[in-house]
Amino acid sequence: MSMTSAAQFQAVSQVFGDFTAVDAIDLTIPEGKLTTLLGPSGCGKTTSLRMLAGYLRPTSGRILIRGEDFTTAPPEKRNLGMVFQSYALFPHMSVADNVGYGLKLRHVPGPERAKRVTEALEMVGLAHLAGNRPKQLSGGQQQRVAIARAVAIAPNLLLLDEPLSNLDARLRLQMRAELRRIQSETGLSVVLVTHDQDEALEMSDQMVVMKDGRIQQQGAPQEVFPAPANRFVAEFLGYENFIPTGTEWVTVRPEHLDVRRRSGSSETVDGLTLDGHVTDLAYRGVDVLVTLAAEAPGSPDPVRLVADLRAANAPDLRIGDEITIGAATGHLVTLPA
Ligand SMILES: Nc1ncnc2c1ncn2[C@@H]1O[C@H](COP(=O)(O)OP(=O)(O)O)[C@@H](O)[C@H]1O
Ligand SMILES: [Mg+2]
Repeated sequence: MSMTSAAQFQAVSQVFGDFTAVDAIDLTIPEGKLTTLLGPSGCGKTTSLRMLAGYLRPTSGRILIRGEDFTTAPPEKRNLGMVFQSYALFPHMSVADNVGYGLKLRHVPGPERAKRVTEALEMVGLAHLAGNRPKQLSGGQQQRVAIARAVAIAPNLLLLDEPLSNLDARLRLQMRAELRRIQSETGLSVVLVTHDQDEALEMSDQMVVMKDGRIQQQGAPQEVFPAPANRFVAEFLGYENFIPTGTEWVTVRPEHLDVRRRSGSSETVDGLTLDGHVTDLAYRGVDVLVTLAAEAPGSPDPVRLVADLRAANAPDLRIGDEITIGAATGHLVTLPA
């Protein structure tokens, strides 16, 4: 069986002293797609990227690029484009010379180099600033130059390590769309490292969720988000409702929780039903954090649930209200403890 892959990690580990930063990860980076490595600070994202780029040799395992073993090859043999959180431009060079730097190193002749620099700068909308120095540019423009520089060499892979983290919130959103456009225009295989779950959901063809040097779950956002593999992934993706059911947890989105004042007759619903009284409330705009002293068996502690307030029949709750919270089976996600 042959499968196109831009790169592959095969049981790759990185051990620093007695600390395992990356723990035997197996990962395929598909060709022509955007893959994100997502996880909290310290989970091993940058270390994984540095091993792929050749700046760090794996303690064990193999790294393949387009099917060939590159585990011990130096960075310059891999032809990868890299962009970091800091723009890392050469301050004494013009924008054009920054973008052409990698081409010069590769002995691309002058006229061809000029053409590719112009193309790369046009792609990021900065051709008119070719003669400027980096310090004359805004942060967002500098990051575009760094992207143009990485793309100009026509890399096997484009590696981006938190490239949007230093930008302000509005620009960050704009650059998400721009990076997606650049990826689809160039057809490059991109690996993007981020700790921002919204960024990963919005940008990824494939997302890889990591924790403590291990992959927790991978797949398209449309696969991962509705079916988190465990409580860590669920929490990291923003799920807040965790209801104990003995040996497992059940989670449900706020908009799928049905909150009602308790009436005398207890309905039987197919799914989750929790009866209790409200012990605390926190208004949060579109939703409300309800702390419920529930009468559910096996949950001695109050259950904290976030319910959506936009539902047409959402009751106006007060502390002490007797309520029933329900969710249909189809909306429940069971998580191993
Ligand atoms: N050169 C190093 N020596 C020792 N520990 C390191 C080194 N590089 C990274 N680490 C540790 O490995 C873990 C993973 O780091 P890193 O890959 O940078 O995480 P992330 O990019 O996900 O925030 C962290 O605990 C970090 O402190
Ligand atoms: Mg990092």
